[in-house]
Amino acid sequence: GYDAWLGRRALTDKDQVSSLTDWASRIIAEESDECIRTAAYELTETITAWTGRRPDNAVPADGGGCLRIGTFQGCSEVASAFSEVEMSAVQADGFRLRRAGQSIIIAGSTGRGVLYGAFALLRLIKTGERLNELDELSNPANGLRLINEWDNVDGSIERGYAGRSIFYAEGEVVPDLSRVRDYARLLASVGINGIVVNNVNVHREETLFLSERYLPRIADMANVFRAYGIRLYLSINFAAPIEMGGLATADPLEEAVRTWWKDRVKEVYKWIPDFGGFLVKADSEFRPGPFTYGRDHADGANMLAEALAPYGGIVVWRCFVYNCKQDWRDRKTDRARAAYDHFTPLDGRFRDNVVLQVKNGPMDFQVREPVSPLFGAMPHTNMLIEFQVTQEYTGQQRHLCYLVPQWKEALDFDTHARGEGSTIKKVADGSLFGRPLGGFAAVSNVGDDANWTGHPLAQANLYGYGRLAWNPELAADRIAEEWIKQTFGDHDRVIKTLLAMLMSSWSLYESYTSPLGVGWMVKPNHHYGPDVDGYEYSMWGTYHFADCYGIGVDRSVRTGTGYASQYHRPHSERFESAETTPDELLLFFHHVPYTHRLHSGKTVIQHIYDSHFEGVKGSEALAEQWEGLKGLIDHDIFEQGRSRLQEQIEHAKEWRDVINTYFWRKSGIADEHGRTIY
Ligand code: GCU
Repeated sequence: GYDAWLGRRALTDKDQVSSLTDWASRIIAEESDECIRTAAYELTETITAWTGRRPDNAVPADGGGCLRIGTFQGCSEVASAFSEVEMSAVQADGFRLRRAGQSIIIAGSTGRGVLYGAFALLRLIKTGERLNELDELSNPANGLRLINEWDNVDGSIERGYAGRSIFYAEGEVVPDLSRVRDYARLLASVGINGIVVNNVNVHREETLFLSERYLPRIADMANVFRAYGIRLYLSINFAAPIEMGGLATADPLEEAVRTWWKDRVKEVYKWIPDFGGFLVKADSEFRPGPFTYGRDHADGANMLAEALAPYGGIVVWRCFVYNCKQDWRDRKTDRARAAYDHFTPLDGRFRDNVVLQVKNGPMDFQVREPVSPLFGAMPHTNMLIEFQVTQEYTGQQRHLCYLVPQWKEALDFDTHARGEGSTIKKVADGSLFGRPLGGFAAVSNVGDDANWTGHPLAQANLYGYGRLAWNPELAADRIAEEWIKQTFGDHDRVIKTLLAMLMSSWSLYESYTSPLGVGWMVKPNHHYGPDVDGYEYSMWGTYHFADCYGIGVDRSVRTGTGYASQYHRPHSERFESAETTPDELLLFFHHVPYTHRLHSGKTVIQHIYDSHFEGVKGSEALAEQWEGLKGLIDHDIFEQGRSRLQEQIEHAKEWRDVINTYFWRKSGIADEHGRTIY
């Protein structure tokens, strides 16, 4: 699984190989731009492996075809294949692919665009597209397409489920960066253009990443990523002026603090001239921030933004801010409200090179949550949507859970902030409110496991994230199919089976872990496995309030926390009443009796029982589907998948029995079908 979707096995389709012989025998790249060199290298190596013949770079004699790659400005042969209008339609990271006689042209307005074009061409070939009529224009919807690594310098990964860090070991950046380079390839192939290389929780040692102790090696990493068009960013510790600089304060309005940051930023750019900027988790889960000094998030972010602005750097400021020391007896404080309550009063106060990073939902990457109401609420502020590719709450890469359908649902949600059609994807890309910066960020799922992601099928989430960040209009099944074909080849049964498995997996996982939007019934700390009351009497603000009559959190305005009012109409009205709240979110918004009847016609309690029994059956069905692939896919991958799917079945049973037993004992209402509940 190491090659993931970029495997270079020889092509099996004879027609395809013969269609490559002419133009693919010569690759002409005349510019010295680093990304164009990378593009030429990737094309050369892949085509060589596919066809068994190494392309040369001799300019073809009259009539011969070639693969010509370059920018409109830097290569006249490329430019001459397009009209002015066609060229001007290509934005910074975009590209055009075109068949011109015997040749194929990959054109961009930047080297990075050319690199993306190269990967796109390889993808088209590998997914079986014919190139006779090739004429494709592609621009990314989002300017920022970031990946966040939650890696620590000791080699551990916060919420990592695929081994140790590929970046660090024993307090140092790893000496051999070849695996980092292979990761850069994977990321670039799906259009990622920025990477934050350390955990948002910046501990003592990583605070020093801004110092000469670490910068030389971080610069080495930046060099690796630069060749693949990816800018490097760092998570920083807001208290660094104290912890590293020896100042008495980190007050963002204090002159000495501002100067300290400016000096640090200058130093960083000395080492990394194209440094992307800082990611900041401040005043969140015990991390330091401006609140300590009576300042707000805008004060904090703007101070850093001012230091970065002269170099073109940005501040990515996270909105994951809530009271994590709540008293569970207090029914008024609602964690779901927190980000909106903290940030909306600051709308318009952030500098232009600040972008807020907002998790897709108001809580924390649960398998089911409503979307964050912040997306429709800050028209004068840049915003990124943050997803979690690593499966912290969605099976930790032991269970199969293809998350693209979940992300699509969030992106397609219509906030109604500017009337109908005000979807979250338009907030994220900046177009709805006319914002200069925007895009996607996501927490990565890779580690040093041979197959990168632990579960071999979890690679689809990394792939899908990148593809969606480039083009949120792509359908979840289309992305899955692309990924399957590139990873496993074009066997019809393999494609159909894996597609069905992936597409059913999110709702399957939901069915046995989180009925009707309730969430959080997991073991504290590591978050794997069922524990209905694990967080019920804790300080984290994550409750279900189940008693002998009913379950759910009342977030209505009339009788609850008022969270429902953070949405625009019609959603605020829809979520206000249990009658109009969609079933899958009922318990997120309302506390209802177990006998409450859902739109599906079932009672809440019967839904809980049924979905948990069905969840186990669904998991067994997944494993059976996988068995059908024996002999059709790589043996090792098959075995890896098989053992994970077995674990999923056993673990789904644990979920089923714990959840069903708990609610049967609480409610005293028997299962209509008399199945075994303990
Ligand atoms: C979750 C996760 C933490 C992480 C945090 C964050 O709470 O469990 O490990 O640090 O999200 O996004 O900052």
